Amino acid sequence: MSISHLSDHVKPEALTGFNNTGNVCVWPSEEVLTYYCLNQLEIFNGKSVIELGGGMTCLAGVALSIMSDVTYTELTDGNKDSVSNLDKIIAKNRSQFNKSKVTSSVVRWGPGETINQDMIEVFDYVLCADCFFFEEGREDLVKLIYKLLKQDGEAILFAPKRGKTFDAFVTLADAVFNTEVKENYDDTIWDIHCKMKEKGTDAYDPDIHYPCFVHLSKKSNSDK
Ligand SMILES: C[S@@+](CC[C@H](N)C(=O)[O-])C[C@H]1O[C@@H](n2cnc3c(N)ncnc32)[C@H](O)[C@@H]1O
Repeated sequence: MSISHLSDHVKPEALTGFNNTGNVCVWPSEEVLTYYCLNQLEIFNGKSVIELGGGMTCLAGVALSIMSDVTYTELTDGNKDSVSNLDKIIAKNRSQFNKSKVTSSVVRWGPGETINQDMIEVFDYVLCADCFFFEEGREDLVKLIYKLLKQDGEAILFAPKRGKTFDAFVTLADAVFNTEVKENYDDTIWDIHCKMKEKGTDAYDPDIHYPCFVHLSKKSNSDK
């Protein structure tokens, strides 16, 4: 897998334009989302996947397109610079994509929602990492996930608690989805988390670094 970051030089326009957090680094939730998906490749065979807010790499979506027999992967972010970088990553990895059609696009939730109408109810899986903390548009993100998923589709999401923002997302999602939340979802990751906490280093603050897991599936009409 060949992944490139955007350059270190940040132009002033980037700081005043659309949210730039996805061009800073690959965040721990994205790394854990990737690890989690790679540990259960078989569920993605023959399925369609969209990653939302994937930042400049969409690491999880790219890894799945190479390692699983997913049929279609849409790599997305709301930031145009991130999506330009995704285009480059797709071009570099093209020969490695297994059976998957892989494309990228700007998809935005919230005011000025940007979404291709052909994507509605098309996806078996929505992936998303570290996107719950934006106060504006949190409910719109829930609605967008709902819109993109097939009736029996599932969302696999990771995010740190970041104050009350994780729980605020889950409360909103509960209205239309069956939600499952886990803090301990993998022995290896939990073990690293406990060791880091024990060390008590300033470099590790679970509230902003430890990715928690959320699984969503659509409620049937009678459950709502
Ligand atoms: C903290 S970054 C996470 C990026 C990547 N998932 C990771 O964990 O490395 C949040 C991402 O959400 C995107 N984002 C923020 N608000 C958005 C919106 N309304 N629509 C689409 N993407 C949005 C940002 O552009 C950014 O890439």
